[in-house]
Amino acid sequence: MKTAFITGITGQDGAYLAEFLLRKGYKVVGGFRRLSSPNFWRLEELGILNEVQLEEIDILDAASIIRILDKVKPVEVYNLAAQSFVAHSFSNPILTGNVTALGVTNVLEAIRIVNKEIKFYQASTSELFGRAQEIPQKETTPFYPRSPYAVAKLYGHWITINYRESYNIFAACGILFNHESPLRGIEFVTRKITDAVAKIYNGKQDYFEIGNLNAKRDWGYAKEYVVGMWLMLQTQKPDTYVLATGEVHSVREWIEVCFELVNKKIQWIGEGVSEIGKDSKTGKILVKVNPDFFRPAEVDMLIGDASKAKKELGWEAKVKYKELAEIMLRKDIERNK
Ligand code: NAP
Ligand code: GDD
Repeated sequence: MKTAFITGITGQDGAYLAEFLLRKGYKVVGGFRRLSSPNFWRLEELGILNEVQLEEIDILDAASIIRILDKVKPVEVYNLAAQSFVAHSFSNPILTGNVTALGVTNVLEAIRIVNKEIKFYQASTSELFGRAQEIPQKETTPFYPRSPYAVAKLYGHWITINYRESYNIFAACGILFNHESPLRGIEFVTRKITDAVAKIYNGKQDYFEIGNLNAKRDWGYAKEYVVGMWLMLQTQKPDTYVLATGEVHSVREWIEVCFELVNKKIQWIGEGVSEIGKDSKTGKILVKVNPDFFRPAEVDMLIGDASKAKKELGWEAKVKYKELAEIMLRKDIERNK
């Protein structure tokens, strides 16, 4: 039985990847960090909490990772741990740099010390493209990061390639575009909206506040993206791959489609920070813009070209934006009953 070690197993991708690897017959060991209250709700919701072996690590503590790799002897390591919320990286840039950038070196060093044969996956991101230099973005598109998070991820991306080239470690980078699910953290825009629409639908909330309505993203389904991570470690040679749907939609459209799913049509009135979204039938305000949710530097639009992953890995995004909104909203309506 092969063992895989996942950092960030308590996060959205960590939980889905653990589920996928368990079904593939792996023994799955997950690194979690000590918090004042444990954060295992995703593993519980997937019903796999008792199937994974949980080990306490902190990605900031290289020794903790060395000890675990030595103990559990994985053949594959998936580095998903990060301070992953872009907005938070502006208020906590140093922490973000330590965790999201230097944390990657801690894991790579642990591999170099314990066993250089371990295959390594690094969670790179479409945020590397930031102020996009090309449409759509692919593996060869120049990077232009726009936040402390994206700058930290740029370091993580290049240090992974550096360890690949310097020490011949099988180190792959997945440049993943936004991927969402019912397990998405509630601070991210898609889930913030499905949760709020569900609460409005269930009569628990009147309206919600939002930031930049015109930001556009390429949103896919996380459950499919973790399969791509695994495929990247099954190739002959380590490489870098983009995973994306190739479709782009705005935050505004996401709000509209979520309300449509509960038979509400939004009428937009006003402009900029004064813009509001009303229920076209009742005239009740459902959405207000709040500039507190704007970012000091914004990424206006991301859309990916995943043709390399399709050609070389046989990976393709099947679930597109409307179906994704429906999956997430249905779950949030059930949760908020
Ligand atoms: P997530 O839900 O925010 O999960 C992040 C994970 O990192 C959590 O398990 C968190 O643990 C852990 N973590 C944070 N700081 C840590 C530390 N100091 N030591 C150990 N673990 C720590 O993120 P996600 O959406 O699953 O994304 C997974 C990875 O892919 C991240 O690296 C993210 O940056 C990257 N990525 C995500 C997307 C996307 O659209 N989802 C796209 C591209 C790249 P706690 O539970 O204790 O907080
Ligand atoms: N979170 C949030 N909250 N975002 C909002 C809001 C709001 O109220 N209103 C508008 N937005 C806009 C943001 O300004 C951004 O342009 C867009 O919605 C998406 O924001 P997030 O959902 O927070 O995701 P992200 O694109 O910044 O980052 C996510 O995707 C990256 C991949 O491109 C994260 O998962 C990153 O970890 C990941 O690397």
